Amino acid sequence: MEGTMATVLLLPLLLLALSWWAWGVRRAQMQRGLPPGPTPFPVLGNLLQLQSGHLDRVLMELSSRWGPVFTVWLGPRPAVVLCGYTALRDALVLQADAFSGRGSMAVFERFTHGNGIAFSNGPRWRTLRNFALGALKEFGVGRRSIEERIQEEASCLLGEFQAIVGTPFDPRRLLDNAVSNVICSVVFGKRYDYGDPEFLRLLDLFSDNFRIMSSKWGEAYNIFPSFLDWIPGPHHRIFRNFQELRVFISEQIQQHRQLRQAREPRDFIDCFLDQMDEEQQDPESHFQDETLVMTTHNLFFGGTETTSTTLRYGLLIMLKYPEVAAKVQAELDAVIGRTRAPNLEDRARLPYTNAVLHEIQRFISVLPLGLPRALTRDTHLRSHFLRKGTFVIPLLVSAHRDPTQFKDPDHFNPTNFLDDRGEFQNNDAFMPFAPGKRMCLGAGLARSEIFLFFTAILQKFCLLSTESPASINLTPQCTGLGNVPPAFQLRLVAR
Ligand code: HEM
Repeated sequence: MEGTMATVLLLPLLLLALSWWAWGVRRAQMQRGLPPGPTPFPVLGNLLQLQSGHLDRVLMELSSRWGPVFTVWLGPRPAVVLCGYTALRDALVLQADAFSGRGSMAVFERFTHGNGIAFSNGPRWRTLRNFALGALKEFGVGRRSIEERIQEEASCLLGEFQAIVGTPFDPRRLLDNAVSNVICSVVFGKRYDYGDPEFLRLLDLFSDNFRIMSSKWGEAYNIFPSFLDWIPGPHHRIFRNFQELRVFISEQIQQHRQLRQAREPRDFIDCFLDQMDEEQQDPESHFQDETLVMTTHNLFFGGTETTSTTLRYGLLIMLKYPEVAAKVQAELDAVIGRTRAPNLEDRARLPYTNAVLHEIQRFISVLPLGLPRALTRDTHLRSHFLRKGTFVIPLLVSAHRDPTQFKDPDHFNPTNFLDDRGEFQNNDAFMPFAPGKRMCLGAGLARSEIFLFFTAILQKFCLLSTESPASINLTPQCTGLGNVPPAFQLRLVAR
């Protein structure tokens, strides 16, 4: 009886306290200029609503209630989410400058301390980005020479594939090897043998980090870093892996220092060292040892994991839809034949293949939440006033799943990029590299690699699965920072 009385008295008090809290949060949001969103709890923020292991999906669901621009609290930190093609365009494209800052992510912050291209801001970011773009161009990116480099690497990959024809294998490592060698040749001036144990170790570190960052541990670390520093778990491996990569990169830089000829750069590291010499007397120079390590790491990691994951996912999708693979092969046979290696000019003459590659990137959304942005100044977006420094999540996957932009957004369907006559049809809502000033620095290189590796493989081999296509599961094995495909076995038959 007493218990019931206490409940009757306590319940209204609890409800009152909760309404008071919700009202306080709303008022604080309005004062901070944050768009509306689900009411957060103290300390946890909206974690209870977001706790499903599919942050991208949950955010899209929340958007159907709160609109295309809304706030969620990741623990104690508010984040403004941009959902759907028009919100992303209005912010990242139409207000490119205001949205060009990088929002900090604890997993990267602890390693980079805001240094390097990908995680710096302001003048340092602008200087490094322009420098890197210029240097990549000098070493062939966007030119014929990188195309030839990728073709050579594709031929090495085909050689490895040829040696295991008929035997089921997991293609992850070989694809990692091939893709990474392209960026290695630009950054370190050399490629590695596919069996090189040091190289394989580095690629495993990348893959391990991408996986952990795309797990609940990585997500939790970004929200409560100081707390998770004390909790045992796989997230600690991220920093050990980063440290091992740092040792490797530092050794490469040291070797370059010993062997280089000043002003005769062989690769990106030499170019950076030349620039360091040039600005030696400038105390404000951004060209410092630590910046070189971080920038090299950005290019090496950025240039490997996402591209390789896209190719691997693409092959899995071809196993699930053998009729699509057969149509690509028929087009390749008709336009290129089976002897000459595909080149980039062929892309314009291969509308179906081009549509399939776009559709793979759209369907998998390899970085579903992009990388976080931060506002560089106060700005208005739609009816909201957003303050400088606001943390922004560009939900790239939401553009890819936007029913106002794609005919069949929820399925893998190459006609999403084909018109009625079967010609390739581009779509501004295709944004795996994110639009705007902070757009992926390697987008052109990645697209060339995806096209040349994918067509080289399908031109020479039929892909067979060890299970029936119907039973192949395309749901990512981990999702968070990235969408990682489930592991699978592939059997090749020479064509
Ligand atoms: C399929 C392959 C790839 C995808 C889907 C991808 C996607 C992305 C995305 C979404 C971003 C964040 C852009 C933003 O701030 O909104 C990014 C940034 C970046 N990517 Fe890529 N990327 C790929 C390949 C590459 C390659 C090959 C390189 C190597 C050159 C690279 C280097 C970078 C760098 C350095 C940044 C940071 C740019 C900045 O902050 O200014 N990426 N990428």
